Amino acid sequence: MSTRFARRMSGVRASSIREMLKATEQPGIISFAGGLPAPELFPVDDIRSATERVFRETAASALQYGPTEGCSLLRELLAERMLKRAVVCSTDDLLVTTGSQQSLDLIGKIFLDAGDCVLTESPTYLAAIQAFQAYEPRFITVPTDEEGLIPEALPELIEREQPKLLYTIPNFQNPTGVTLTAERRRILYSIAARYGLIVVEDDPYGMLRYSGTAIPSIKSLDTDGIVIYLSTVSKTIAPGLRVGWAVAKPEIRRALTIVKQAVDLHTSSLDQRIVYRYLSDFDIDVHIERIRRSYGERYSVMNSRLEECMPAGFTWTHPEGGMFLWVTCPEELNTCELMPGALERKVLFVPGQDFFPDGASRRFMRLNFSNASLAQIGEGIGRLADVCAAAVRNLPVAQRC
Ligand SMILES: Cc1ncc(COP(=O)(O)O)c(C=O)c1O
Repeated sequence: MSTRFARRMSGVRASSIREMLKATEQPGIISFAGGLPAPELFPVDDIRSATERVFRETAASALQYGPTEGCSLLRELLAERMLKRAVVCSTDDLLVTTGSQQSLDLIGKIFLDAGDCVLTESPTYLAAIQAFQAYEPRFITVPTDEEGLIPEALPELIEREQPKLLYTIPNFQNPTGVTLTAERRRILYSIAARYGLIVVEDDPYGMLRYSGTAIPSIKSLDTDGIVIYLSTVSKTIAPGLRVGWAVAKPEIRRALTIVKQAVDLHTSSLDQRIVYRYLSDFDIDVHIERIRRSYGERYSVMNSRLEECMPAGFTWTHPEGGMFLWVTCPEELNTCELMPGALERKVLFVPGQDFFPDGASRRFMRLNFSNASLAQIGEGIGRLADVCAAAVRNLPVAQRC
């Protein structure tokens, strides 16, 4: 007899590549597939020292239940740090979440009924698609180019589809690495404000800029209270500390807090205390500078190797920060079909199709440059280029670039 799951489970798409990604464990594999930060850059000694101090001085509260909104000391520090994103906010404006992934689920819970429309970039973060999918929305994609989402396309989409939310990752987007320009942020905001459209600004990578100049967040323009800003310590401290935060106007924050109560009561008190102690006792900006320098170097090696080795007809994005770049292959190539060859050569990437809500586009791949060493990037891109070249040779002559 088959198990009777809820109807919403039928809309939840299993990732076609998850099985293949298990291969990451095999010896000798060079993986550009995951979204993992560089583990050698985790501030292990500083986190150990912060943790010891938490246990020495505040063990009881670190091990106790806490308020759903989060530990007030941590909220105060995170609210102060929002100034780096050009956002002036107070402790009360900020809800601590269990990673920013939890915010996506909570936002789905408070806004989406079955059939409601969510606007997203195309492509977009695959786990945001999964998080929202549980609430059975319709995804409508907004066209994007090398400067991010094209805001001029919004009015027609908003009038036709009546969306509840616009979900965007304006800095070093996952998966493309593309950044929304300042001008487009202004246009996007003014259109959203005109229609009263809620904008979810997901910003895990904003602090990881290794070139160019910082662009103020969309939230910094938010005089109407329509932007929900999300961030996390996952990419700047460590993702094992499941601490993220959401900044939103009181009505939305209250709704998020009420549903969070039912989901997990509160984010781990211990994790919050450790993050608070780490931020108080150490200079995270010095640490972030190390990450930026290292990721900038890794990107640069990946880009140079791609230029050296990739066959004609392949292009890729040139991100100024973050952890990913996005490769566009010749039109007739299906990157899922490259996977067996890549596995044989012991190199992994993520085929692009799962980043499209309709799963339709096949000619893309996402490459992560934050996790592999410089030597692995050099070697791995060589292997990947061989796999791509072999695939191009197998295309009918008329379809080769
Ligand atoms: C765009 C985006 N949003 C949210 C998350 C989730 O981050 P967290 O570890 O804070 O849950 C990620 C993680 O990779 C991400 O890329």
